[in-house]
Amino acid sequence: MADNFDAIVIGGGPGGYNAAIRLGQLGLTSACIDKRGTFGGTCLNVGCIPSKALLHASERFHEAKEDFAKLGIKAKVELDLPAMMAQKTKVVGELTKGVEFLLKKAKSEAIVGEARITAPGKVEVKGADGKVRSLTAKHIIIATGSDVAPLPGVTIDEMQIVSSTGALSLTSVPKKLLVVGAGVIGLELGSVYRRLGAEVTVVEFLDRITPGIDGEVGKAFQRILTKQGFTFQLSTKVTGVEKKGSGLKVSVEPAAGGEKSTIDCDVMLVAIGRVPYTAGLGLAEVGVELDKRGRVITDNHYRTKVPGIYAVGDCREGAMLAHKAEDEATACAEIIAGKAGHVNYDAIPSVVYTFPEVATVGKSEEELKAAGIQYKVGKFPFTANARAKTIMATDGLVKILADAKTDKVLGCAIVGPEAGNLIAEVVLAMEFGASSEDIARTCHSHPTLSEAVRQAAMGVEGWTMQM
Ligand code: FAD
Ligand code: NAI
Repeated sequence: MADNFDAIVIGGGPGGYNAAIRLGQLGLTSACIDKRGTFGGTCLNVGCIPSKALLHASERFHEAKEDFAKLGIKAKVELDLPAMMAQKTKVVGELTKGVEFLLKKAKSEAIVGEARITAPGKVEVKGADGKVRSLTAKHIIIATGSDVAPLPGVTIDEMQIVSSTGALSLTSVPKKLLVVGAGVIGLELGSVYRRLGAEVTVVEFLDRITPGIDGEVGKAFQRILTKQGFTFQLSTKVTGVEKKGSGLKVSVEPAAGGEKSTIDCDVMLVAIGRVPYTAGLGLAEVGVELDKRGRVITDNHYRTKVPGIYAVGDCREGAMLAHKAEDEATACAEIIAGKAGHVNYDAIPSVVYTFPEVATVGKSEEELKAAGIQYKVGKFPFTANARAKTIMATDGLVKILADAKTDKVLGCAIVGPEAGNLIAEVVLAMEFGASSEDIARTCHSHPTLSEAVRQAAMGVEGWTMQM
């Protein structure tokens, strides 16, 4: 086996494997190294994919239990959690194998082991057997991703005090689940266990859930989750946890300080964010700089200060999202191959896969206000959408923001059924610099949920027709 490549990619997640695939398509040789043992990174192994498998299964369970009767379907429904987990594991296995196949097809050597950069163009890989292999390449791409942000004073055991990883493999449904952090992970995995019967309390430091998402849509989302049985304790922080019998006693206090109290639960999920992961890579020794938050500093061509060393994905600045990592990987590989790789950060969608889903792209109303940009708003509630009525999913709304002068679409936030798919239309519109009128005058099939997007776009110019 040759030990010299055009590029070495460290990390086999969406940032790493997509970089290797694109390099291969552009005729460059590469090695893709991951220490996990399977490829696909956080996303395929302990992130996007297993969480979406459990979200799907738990949603079907809840639907069968609560909604089938309303549709005239009589069913006796029983939970088989081990089978649900097994289905999730099967999907993960198939997809991680799929990545190995894609790397092979791209003629990228998939190497299992821990990589360390010893000098520009030089990487050492330590295999599970302790053997070290030395590799060389003109280019090195760091795509080492992120890890769970720790909660000071709390030790995660992945059994009772869990991160998302442990929460994806619980062996029983907790009677009481306490979630720390009302962000994406807390609300997605909280939804899984809420649907399976857990009482779910979410403790959030800030005075709102899903910070960063348009405030009005965030509020609507919180109302919907509360209706589903979630309990929120906002502006509150967890200060400690102790084991009490078979359960946990969690200490909380107001974020601004004040009287302490305790919450009893069976399982606590810590979901207060993720931090870039670059431990053991030898970055300081080789001269690659990190910012205050531990993210690899790069320019907008993904180049670090050290010639020939690049970084993409969760380990550098920006949203920690699989598709953002993928797009950066593609652009970085293209730049290495001498092409004009580019990512449009104004058009990267973000989706929370609860029911209903929440999807956003571009600017929120708060961001436009803060930037002093004049805008117009169009909104449409799913209660007025015919398809939403037929599928009994009328909670939520579409909100479109457009420039007051040019009508160019600046942002969109949706809480509602299929929001994650619906947002794609607006993302494409934004990529093409479309106006809200372009969406409003585009024919949409009837009866579909996408008509709600059109009606919201009509609302920007004040001619929503179906309200
Ligand atoms: P990663 O996927 O983290 O991959 C990095 C890889 O590098 C890891 O496999 C690691 O083992 C390896 N590595 C690190 N250091 C070394 C080393 N020295 N040597 C060798 N290998 C090394 N995003 C979405 O867009 N949609 C979702 O629905 C979604 N759901 C999520 C659900 C959960 C529970 C979590 C935790 C995350 C979710 N994410 C989701 C985020 C998504 O997983 C990440 O944004 C994405 O995986 C980042 O890709 P990456 O390639 O940058 O890093
Ligand atoms: P997050 O950043 O989405 O949310 C963390 C929440 O915890 C925030 O609301 C924050 O205010 C709160 N918080 C922070 N410290 C706290 C404390 N001490 N006590 C109480 N609350 C506290 O992070 P999360 O949910 O852990 O997800 C990590 C990353 O993974 C996200 O940034 C996201 O990009 C990615 N992800 C994406 C998904 C998707 O695209 N559907 C799904 C899951 C994860």
